[in-house]
Amino acid sequence: NNHFEGQSFLKEIDFTPQELTYLIDFASHLKAMKQQNIPHPYLQGKNIALLFEKTSTRTRSAFTVAAHDLGAHPEFLGKDDIQLGKKESVSDTAKVLGSMFDGIEFRGFDQATVETLAKDSGVPVWNGLTDDWHPTQMIADFMTLKAHFGHLAGLTLTYVGDGRNNMANSLLVTSAMLGVNIHIGAPADLQPAATVVALAQQYADVSGSEILITADPTQAAANADALYTDVWVSMGEQVDYGARIQALLPFQINADLVAATGKAETIIMHCLPAFHDHQTKTGAALGEKYDLPALEITDDVFNSPQAVVFEEAGNRMPAIKAIMAVTLGNLFIPDCLFA
Ligand code: CP
Ligand code: NVA
Repeated sequence: NNHFEGQSFLKEIDFTPQELTYLIDFASHLKAMKQQNIPHPYLQGKNIALLFEKTSTRTRSAFTVAAHDLGAHPEFLGKDDIQLGKKESVSDTAKVLGSMFDGIEFRGFDQATVETLAKDSGVPVWNGLTDDWHPTQMIADFMTLKAHFGHLAGLTLTYVGDGRNNMANSLLVTSAMLGVNIHIGAPADLQPAATVVALAQQYADVSGSEILITADPTQAAANADALYTDVWVSMGEQVDYGARIQALLPFQINADLVAATGKAETIIMHCLPAFHDHQTKTGAALGEKYDLPALEITDDVFNSPQAVVFEEAGNRMPAIKAIMAVTLGNLFIPDCLFA
């Protein structure tokens, strides 16, 4: 019957490159269906738990709207609402939720938590971001790239900034899986862990993707079809902001770095939220403290026609919809598609 039935999506390598490609294309299809008002209630009568240890705008909204569009009921369970890991073990919470819900989304700190939820709940679990990975973001991001270039293999994606966070890990491994050349520009002590690079290299050997990790931002940017960055300090990270900013300022996406790509058609990506000006409370405080108008990306680049950040954010919804629909929905996706 359905090839993906009952599976969890805890990290990118839970699926094969072919399966990720299917998800990307199915997400585009679901986006078009919604635009044409074609109903797609693949999860009629299902109940979905949305667990959030960390805050979220896009991921929470995308899961909520996607569940409604698919005919399911989403239930938000925030960190102050449930016992998870404080008064009750994650394993016990998993068993309880699995007895009532048909699927569970988890956003939080430890990858081990989402792995335990999947192991002990008995229902599909979807990782809405941990300290290590952001897999649902990858489906939206590569869907956005494919929409712009018509294909993925052979493109070059450059990520600059904190090379050790969830986004850097996910972009590195997913690019390698899908045959996209991946450049990471980051200072030596913020470059990806050797284990993540080795994992990506295994996939790159098969896909033909080229991996470049460098402390030279100009070298990283060269030839980029997409220039990508993320916040310099991630949720829950305890670091000295001043020192982090000093280390990462050379890796800011600004007009000079865009020019360093040597390409006119480079698109600018960011998973959001972004500090590109002083309009947020935190951004204003940081800007004043460090005398900077922007952090990881300048306002001019963020607002340029090359930036696809809001299209990317909008794609989170159909991407998450595709993931939920294939793993939990009443769909027929034959195994032979992935042989
Ligand atoms: N990109 C992303 O995951 O955004 P949120 O933190 O708002 O969900
Ligand atoms: N690296 C960021 C991503 C936010 C979507 C964080 O973890 O805060």
